[in-house]
Amino acid sequence: MMTATVKLVSRVRRLGCVLAFCFLALFLWGLPGARALDNGLAMTPTMGWLHWERFMCNVNCQEEPDSCVSEKLFLQIAEIMASDGWKDVGYEYLCIDDCWMAPERDSEGRLQADPKRFPGGIRRLANYVHSKGLKLGIYADVGNKTCAGFPGSFGYYDIDAKTFADWGVDLLKFDGCYCDSIKHLADGYKHMSLALNRTGRSIVYSCEWPLYMWPIFKPNYTEIREYCNHWRNFADVYDSWQSIRSILDWTTSNQESIVPVAGPGGWNDPDMLVIGNFGLSRDQQITQMALWAIMAAPLLMSNDLRHICLEAKALLQDKDVIAINQDPLGKQGYRLRKEDNFEVWERPLSNLAWAVAMVNLQEIGGPRSYTISVTSLGQGLACNPDCLITQLLPVKRKLGFYEWTSSLKTQVNPTGTVLLRLERAS
Ligand code: GLA
Repeated sequence: MMTATVKLVSRVRRLGCVLAFCFLALFLWGLPGARALDNGLAMTPTMGWLHWERFMCNVNCQEEPDSCVSEKLFLQIAEIMASDGWKDVGYEYLCIDDCWMAPERDSEGRLQADPKRFPGGIRRLANYVHSKGLKLGIYADVGNKTCAGFPGSFGYYDIDAKTFADWGVDLLKFDGCYCDSIKHLADGYKHMSLALNRTGRSIVYSCEWPLYMWPIFKPNYTEIREYCNHWRNFADVYDSWQSIRSILDWTTSNQESIVPVAGPGGWNDPDMLVIGNFGLSRDQQITQMALWAIMAAPLLMSNDLRHICLEAKALLQDKDVIAINQDPLGKQGYRLRKEDNFEVWERPLSNLAWAVAMVNLQEIGGPRSYTISVTSLGQGLACNPDCLITQLLPVKRKLGFYEWTSSLKTQVNPTGTVLLRLERAS
């Protein structure tokens, strides 16, 4: 009798826990509340390469011919993306950022590439990129100037959309500098979205609309999702752990408003992957890769693929982690809990699977162990009644079979992450 009562109480408690998780799920895990931009693109997060973080606005091809923003750089990166396995694992869009333009528009009001640095023009570059089975991205700005001071698109949205389509461009990153009012910002982002659609060419539309709204207003993500395929929310990524942490912190502080809105066709963009550069340790690179997968983030690398170490390459090309990022269910993950300088994040995947990441944020000491009861994962469902757990990062290994009542113990390096995939066993 006594044992039966104890069992009943513990069942009720468990049910209570499950209900609590379900409640959390309701607002973090609902269907995307809004229609996505109806262009059929970005059904999974965009993957590719973007020049900004690594090459910035280097226009000095005289002194630095190998690292200036020029046709040569993009031809070389295209060649490597196609031949070194990048395209094969999904990195498809080769994207030009700011500083590709000549300082003036042409006599017909069209943007033109700097003739010295892009002697063949963008159309020829696009042809080459397409011949490699890749797609080409370009950059422009909703305001009067780009952030680096090149011609802005304000007053020229239709001409610019048509120019990009004529050139064979496949993605537009549309920045928000030098826009004189919130109304012009919103109208401009919408206008360009419609103008791109009217060209009839499939062009992924990458926005920074919410980033430029936040200081003044809370963005209306339902509306943004109707016009953009992805949108930057927060400051530019730098090649440092501090930058990665600040992006993660911003994301967790705002997860209630940004997670539910992400889904096929429209994604939150926490900015480029800086893996393979100078500022992140091995563990920090693992954290960026794992968390960008959990966040269903566009995977746009900004690094020098001509000189990248094998470890960084293997991490960026890790098919299991990419599969989490690209999971067809298309739901963004969220932080489940934070305690004792550990964060646990989780993301629902197709076929009732879950991805779970444990991040050790402590920057002193060595690896620390963290134990979690599997009942608390996946809203009480991931291991109910049991599951198979595979560790994907830092190295792949099968952890085996877990029952609903089991605990999972992990060891996580400082600023590192253990990424797991949980699958139904029965
Ligand atoms: C802004 C954007 C960056 C980059 C630069 C280019 O800062 O947020 O991603 O495009 O402009 O000038």
